[in-house]
Amino acid sequence: MTRELTIPRPDDWHLHLRDGAMLQAVLPETARHFGRAIIMPNLVPPVVTGDQAAAYRDRILAALPDGMAFEPLMTLYLTEDTDPEDVAAAHASGLVKAVKLYPAGATTNSASGVRDFDKVRPVLEKMAEIGLPLCTHGEVTDHDIDIFDREAVFIDRVLDPIRKATPGLRVVMEHITTKNAAEYVASQDKDLGATITTHHLIINRNHILVGGIKPHYYCLPVAKREEHRLALRAAATSGDVRYFLGTDSAPHTDPNKESACGCAGCFTATNTMSLLAHVFEEEGALDKLAGFASEHGPAFYGLPVNAEAMTLTKGDAPVAFPEKIETGDGPVTVFDPGFDVYWSAE
Ligand code: NCD
Ligand code: ZN
Repeated sequence: MTRELTIPRPDDWHLHLRDGAMLQAVLPETARHFGRAIIMPNLVPPVVTGDQAAAYRDRILAALPDGMAFEPLMTLYLTEDTDPEDVAAAHASGLVKAVKLYPAGATTNSASGVRDFDKVRPVLEKMAEIGLPLCTHGEVTDHDIDIFDREAVFIDRVLDPIRKATPGLRVVMEHITTKNAAEYVASQDKDLGATITTHHLIINRNHILVGGIKPHYYCLPVAKREEHRLALRAAATSGDVRYFLGTDSAPHTDPNKESACGCAGCFTATNTMSLLAHVFEEEGALDKLAGFASEHGPAFYGLPVNAEAMTLTKGDAPVAFPEKIETGDGPVTVFDPGFDVYWSAE
């Protein structure tokens, strides 16, 4: 039996493309299916100023293979020295669509992030004034907070105070991994949205640790208990416009993952749409996939839904995805859901 589902071309509201040889290799994996993506600025050195974002955007477009259409939506990496006027100019020119807050030390390449949140107050106030969204990596970095509790504590200690102190600031709580975050988003107004990754709808913390350590399932925020995964599935398939897809596809080479101190990140660009169709079908919510992957994100960012369409087809045989993609920096393992998937994306 073949089934078909046609949705507007999807977008990815949280994506790591890296730079150089890695960018060259991973960009087609996203551009094949997605019309646009919010591009994370955590390069080394980070993308801090409008000029740096413009140069990075040019490098992305130069790496795009002929005949592929893709629009990178640029972000700025918030530091304690960020100039509110530079942010406002980059937004006014149409270049920059969001500013990214990394608590210093929270994740890959976050050393230049924010330690003292009072220092970024003038930037946040400017962003509230001009309607530029703040994307947050929502984890505290306090050494005494357990890694599995860092997202829930961030809501109470950082996110809620920032939002109360900055009325009108639009915030995306990115890659949420807990029931706490889903409930917090649901309890707030439409100025708060949340992205959910593909992999957090599929794995819980057992997948990382049971039967041997699985470095390719390690990402940040780290996958939590099963009850949290189920809460994320309920949120993603609810039809609520505040939840939308941000894959957080984050390529690292195999040597950097399969290491005594392995990097955080799951690479899902290649098979995300097939996996999402599988998950939404399991939840009896295929009719909600267009909202989650193609409509709610543009609505939050005030952009039109893509005019093109994508067709997902369910076949009788499992789809064969590559186990790895080759890059000039080394192989990158594609996320393995651990089950057969029958949906392919056009
Ligand atoms: C991301 C990366 O590798 O840049 N890693 C991850 O585990 N998600 C950074 C991030 O988004 O936290
Ligand atoms: Zn990320």
